[in-house]
Amino acid sequence: MASYMLNGAEVLSFSNGRTPTRLGFMGSSLNGMSLPKMAMISLCGGGSMRAKSLAPRCSLSSSRPASQPRFIQHKKEAYWFYRFLSIVYDHVINPGHWTEDMRDEALEPADLYDPRLKVVDVGGGTGFTTLGIVKHIYPKNVTILDQSPHQLAKARKKEELKECTIIEGDAEELPFPTDSVDRYISAGSIEYWPDPQRGIKEAYRVLKLGGLACVIGPVYPTFWLSRFFADMWMLFPKEEEYIEWFKKAGFKDVKLKRIGPKWYRGVRRHGLIMGCSVTGVKRESGDSPLQLGPKVEDVKKPVNPFSFLLRFILGTIAATYYVLVPVYMWIKDQIVPKGQPI
Ligand SMILES: C[S@@+](CC[C@H](N)C(=O)[O-])C[C@H]1O[C@@H](n2cnc3c(N)ncnc32)[C@H](O)[C@@H]1O
Repeated sequence: MASYMLNGAEVLSFSNGRTPTRLGFMGSSLNGMSLPKMAMISLCGGGSMRAKSLAPRCSLSSSRPASQPRFIQHKKEAYWFYRFLSIVYDHVINPGHWTEDMRDEALEPADLYDPRLKVVDVGGGTGFTTLGIVKHIYPKNVTILDQSPHQLAKARKKEELKECTIIEGDAEELPFPTDSVDRYISAGSIEYWPDPQRGIKEAYRVLKLGGLACVIGPVYPTFWLSRFFADMWMLFPKEEEYIEWFKKAGFKDVKLKRIGPKWYRGVRRHGLIMGCSVTGVKRESGDSPLQLGPKVEDVKKPVNPFSFLLRFILGTIAATYYVLVPVYMWIKDQIVPKGQPI
């Protein structure tokens, strides 16, 4: 069992297009406590799920019941969160949650094989993922978009990104024409979008025919305490939700690859912060076939400063838990003999 947990890639295909209900367990008897470090899940074809999901009346995902507070999952909250986090982001967040190894593994399905491809990095922040992109793509062909000017200011300072286009914008309303880019990449941003389905629909719209979207994000943890803090902080989608959003937006050849820091040894009990890399291909030009109503969140609407501050503080406390988890897992990795699960 341990070797099953610790070893490399595994590919599952579901030719009937149905989403497996227990993707995290991969047919093992581990009761959701662990998973292979990397696994590729491929969902092909249409099937019944597609038929029933193409014309929702409301754009909000059913995975976001109001009973879960998710204190930092509104654009204003995310803006202020990154106003402060941007100061230490590259030094505190990436080493624990989103390492260079993970980034390169997560970008591998994005198929960045030709340096001339036109790429957008949505929610590109300080440019950490963009640094992985420009290893393959001419920087002048890469655009970084983020809603946080503070995060983008850090990206602007990076020598390797000097030739990239860097713009402020909203993932749910991209300032790019339809059918205009070859690759859409977004890493670690979807969890802050109030309406992830709308963001993925936008990914579909801006891609050219044959273009590929790669969305990297966390996965809902299986450990109760991690779930509690996850629900307090932001959206940790389930693997099947990512796949559903892609399929609803019109993507084909939807695949999911699991990722995690190597010191987790495949365990997801405490919640893998960067959990998966999901890709899909645009097979028909034009806008997404998905029809959505008006945007749910009105960012211009005034907020009660007291409740905003309270939400912000509670959300930040919840986020702190996820800064400590990788440190705890790293210490365990140092102590527990190699080859044993932790
Ligand atoms: C965890 S950081 C990831 C940054 C970068 N992609 C990386 O790999 O390090 C999340 C980023 O998403 C941005 N973000 C959150 N909501 C957004 C939205 N609606 N539109 C654009 N960017 C958004 C935040 O400002 C932040 O920079």
